[in-house]
Amino acid sequence: MNKELIQKAVATALKARKNAYAPYSGFMVGATVITKKGRIFSGVNVENSSFGATVCAERVALFSAITAGQDDIAAVVVAASLDGHAVSPCGICRQTLADFNPAMRVILVNAESGKIEKETTIAALLPDRFTFDSPNL
Ligand code: THU
Repeated sequence: MNKELIQKAVATALKARKNAYAPYSGFMVGATVITKKGRIFSGVNVENSSFGATVCAERVALFSAITAGQDDIAAVVVAASLDGHAVSPCGICRQTLADFNPAMRVILVNAESGKIEKETTIAALLPDRFTFDSPNL
């Protein structure tokens, strides 16, 4: 995956983040997924007055790609800022993303600086995940 594509996905996540719907937490998150063909899909967190109905930005981006028939996901970009630092995806998003590609690259962007703060993979963030592959352990 070339650097220009990653920078475009970072810029797209930062721009999408402005549309986050987070009236309850005030915590704005933008995300993009990059497919193996080089397409970019974006998402934001969408909160709800019934808090458990809230969906994270990462899953909205993933579901947008799936809706377009693109399920070959190479990377996910997460843009947020907590005390001046990037944030790592929640457990539900890690599991959801892992089903599509455990080797997926995870690119964490500091939304204040606009810079990539950390790079990892879903496999590193979610060892021993649940799958229907048998045996699972
Ligand atoms: N959130 C995300 O969108 N992605 C994350 O990686 C962490 C949490 C959202 C969910 C909720 O709207 C707010 O951030 C606080 O949890």
